[in-house]
Amino acid sequence: MLPNHYEDLSVLHLGTCPPRPYYLPNDHRVLLNGDWTFAYYESVEDVPEDIGREDFPLGGATIPVPSVWQNHGYDSHQYTNSKYPFPYDPPYVPRDNPCGVYRRSFTVSDTGMRCYLNFEGVDSFTYVWVNGRFVGYHQVSHSTGEYEITEYMRQGENTLTLAVLKWCAGSYLEDQDKLRMSGIFRDVYLLMRPKNHLWDITVRGLPDDKCKGATVSVGFDYAGDAFPVDCTLLDPNGKEIDRQQATGSAVFELESAALWTAETPAQYTVILTGGGETITVPVGVRRIEARDGKVLLNGKRILFKGVNRHDSDPETGYTISKEQAIRDMALMKRHNVNAIRTAHYPNAPWFSQLCGEYGFYVISESDIEAHGCVDVYGSEPWNVKYCAIAKDPRFAQAILDRVQRNVIRDKNCHAVLFWSLGNEAGYGDNFDKAAHWAKAYDPIRLVHYEGTSALPQGDPTGEEAIDIHSRMYAPLREIETYFADKKNKKPYLLCEYIHAMGNGPGDAEDYWELMEKYPGFCGGFVWEWCDHAVYMGKTPDGKQKYFYGGDFGETRHDGNFCMDGLVYPDRTPHTGLKEYQNVIRPVRAKAGNLAKGEVLFDSKLDFADASDVITVSYEVTADGIAVQSGDVPVFSLPPGGQKAVNLGFAIPQGGDCFLNITYKATGRHPLIPAGTFLGIDQIELKRNERKLAPPAPGAVEVTQEGRYITVSGPDFRYRFDTRMGAFDQLVYKNRSLTTAPMALNIWRAPTDNDRNIVHTWRDAGFDQATQRAYETSGEVKNGVGVLTCRQSLAAVYMQPILQVTVTYTVGADGVIQAAFECKKDKAMPSLPRFGLRLHLPKELQHGRYFGFGPYESYMDKRRASWMGLFETTAENHHEDYIKPQENGSHYGCAWAEATDANGFGIRFESETGFCFQLSPYTQEELTQKTHRHELQKAPGPVLCVDYRQNGIGSNSCGPALLEKYSFGEKAFDFVWRIVPLA
Ligand code: GAL
Ligand code: MG
Repeated sequence: MLPNHYEDLSVLHLGTCPPRPYYLPNDHRVLLNGDWTFAYYESVEDVPEDIGREDFPLGGATIPVPSVWQNHGYDSHQYTNSKYPFPYDPPYVPRDNPCGVYRRSFTVSDTGMRCYLNFEGVDSFTYVWVNGRFVGYHQVSHSTGEYEITEYMRQGENTLTLAVLKWCAGSYLEDQDKLRMSGIFRDVYLLMRPKNHLWDITVRGLPDDKCKGATVSVGFDYAGDAFPVDCTLLDPNGKEIDRQQATGSAVFELESAALWTAETPAQYTVILTGGGETITVPVGVRRIEARDGKVLLNGKRILFKGVNRHDSDPETGYTISKEQAIRDMALMKRHNVNAIRTAHYPNAPWFSQLCGEYGFYVISESDIEAHGCVDVYGSEPWNVKYCAIAKDPRFAQAILDRVQRNVIRDKNCHAVLFWSLGNEAGYGDNFDKAAHWAKAYDPIRLVHYEGTSALPQGDPTGEEAIDIHSRMYAPLREIETYFADKKNKKPYLLCEYIHAMGNGPGDAEDYWELMEKYPGFCGGFVWEWCDHAVYMGKTPDGKQKYFYGGDFGETRHDGNFCMDGLVYPDRTPHTGLKEYQNVIRPVRAKAGNLAKGEVLFDSKLDFADASDVITVSYEVTADGIAVQSGDVPVFSLPPGGQKAVNLGFAIPQGGDCFLNITYKATGRHPLIPAGTFLGIDQIELKRNERKLAPPAPGAVEVTQEGRYITVSGPDFRYRFDTRMGAFDQLVYKNRSLTTAPMALNIWRAPTDNDRNIVHTWRDAGFDQATQRAYETSGEVKNGVGVLTCRQSLAAVYMQPILQVTVTYTVGADGVIQAAFECKKDKAMPSLPRFGLRLHLPKELQHGRYFGFGPYESYMDKRRASWMGLFETTAENHHEDYIKPQENGSHYGCAWAEATDANGFGIRFESETGFCFQLSPYTQEELTQKTHRHELQKAPGPVLCVDYRQNGIGSNSCGPALLEKYSFGEKAFDFVWRIVPLA
């Protein structure tokens, strides 16, 4: 058996070098990635003590490094959010603690160099042997473990053996909400270094008070003897500015400096040459401070338009290459995101450097989360439980160590503006000490930690070292209250907000309004960037399978709570990303003197002139058709500035007229190709009052036979079922428009954001409601058929939900006017929706509407969409969430139709706007199936028109849906004009 160091919190690392900032000396790296011999043990206790022996027979299996072993057939995935995946018994972890033994050989020519073995990420605990000799161990999954192994090395071939444990005492601090995976998931390499070399290096670029001139300072120390170092400073174009020889420190003064910001990511370069090595450190000149309750960068208030990002990929798990990271960054940049919180651990060491290069503000989080403390059994208040580890002296050193490893490794990354002590680990002395250490060690950054909000009232633990008042998912009124209280001096941040799970978020714009209102609000980070799931190949009929919590045979799991991102696991954007993109668009336009063709532009940029970022074009539409358009000549718009610009359009004579102003990328940023769509503003120019034409009188007949009343005319025959109170046949020009009764509809497949309210809805029987009629009358009156029906919707054992009186007036042309008067039972909760549902014949696949498109749109989630004329198909309408749910509706429609390829079909019109949805799936199917690859299409498209749908919100984790978006009306009326088309 191996000696048990993994449950020992007193010696966290053995045989390792002290942490240092990340750098790679030129040309001295030997990458050890590749296929390694691998043996898997279900328990570390089964691993023989002499496992490190070079000739220990491990068998013939191999595994790629870096990777996670669950993706290669060992162990299995598990997804839990906050709950620990093992009994809560610190520092103990299960005795059946899986262990992967890795071995490979390598050859280095003996050049008299010192040799350092580096691990950038191993989950969770690693024992190391070189040539059969035990070197030491390390932990902290997302930080670098470095060993000097010079004296273990020999000429020719060497053997490296590792035993990697799934769990260790440190796992109590790694309870992040993620799929739980293990193994060597980041690069492994050797650095061959001269006998005397640089070790710690600190590079800082700080502007002067006026933010004009700047100082770039360099400090360093040595491993071995000191030697003179050549320090060179290059400007952002790579031109040498200055060169100095130094031992220990150098200072460069710049009379005028290009300042670094996410919008203007100018970087200088420091090159240190000496002792046979060259080390290059990019440096941005910037100053971050919390002053007067605001977060200021280079003296100006900034706003984080951020996202939380995990290292996560459906095929590679925790292993993320630079290409994968850049793909994320490119997508973020193209959607106006300017900030990343490395939730909830440091990313690969090159990640923050890339953020410096491409321009992202970074909150770099330490590898700490102890959320599971709240789930332990007991009646103590949640926040008391929460702080158990934060206050446990046994964890003091581990918490400090994790914060230090984060700060020290990335201290030369200017993109990092805040250090975050971790996530959801409560608060107590252990954190307070770490916060003070971080502030003292690195005065050029701010300290962030949201966990202070878990402190029980009256708890004496100090919070003064925390610079930011950080919250997650705060309701709007809490933010208002914070700013109303003048005692609150710290800037306010939402380190997580608008939980982007499934169809959502619906409240992005509402938060944006508060960010604009309060200068002390420094922005927010959407939870989260990507859906986490595991790609499991294709079904026999070719659909991609993604698995989430509960699909791996785990008994304890949190289901699909891991799929709450702005992009799907394969990085296809969700509509939520489009929504966010437009809420955080670089510029906003509003009406100026419209009669003169004038518009006011408002820059939302903090540092760049808008002309560097966007080009502007416009289009004037009348009833959805473009009637004028043009490119707006480039104009300068300073950061935060406003400008009136004459676009030279004229308001058209007829129709509903809108001005659409589109922002596209100039192409000056390497990750944003010219012409990339960055946002849109729509200004209403003119809306006609809509008056629905009454049904035309003529040769209409009304007949009754048994339970059916039939209304017919020259080209149609509509049959009404008086038991149910619905048209069960609509025949036009001898073809059926429907395949089932046109029934009232109040249910929707619950969205993830409905996950709380859905219990109320089910309790009220909304998913079980059936429609009945009390009485129906039918007659011909003034040449039109008039059917009046009193009806209700009710579920078994409960009082009716809705009482409805509907009058259908049918003209000789087959046009139906449907007028509803609805009263909801007083006790019933808000409705998911109210409208009509039609099952259409298969051919009626084509949809056309004048409303909010082209993306799915809801009352509160429609910022990505605009009023326009759109054409689509049932198939394309469907937004394919991995866990199926309500999707693809279009808000604010004046009219909408579904037809076959030749124009046969049905059209709905209203005076006040309605929601339109054409789907290949029924809401029952979307409700029942748990994965998109299981969905079965209905025999024909399902058409839903709704007077109203409940809003979307972000209540999957965020606050309850805002009152104004909730469908709480107790009584409402609505009129549709239903037109058969041929
Ligand atoms: C937060 C947490 C995140 C994530 C989110 C829910 O409380 O910090 O890690 O769990 O909730 O998706
Ligand atoms: Mg958590």
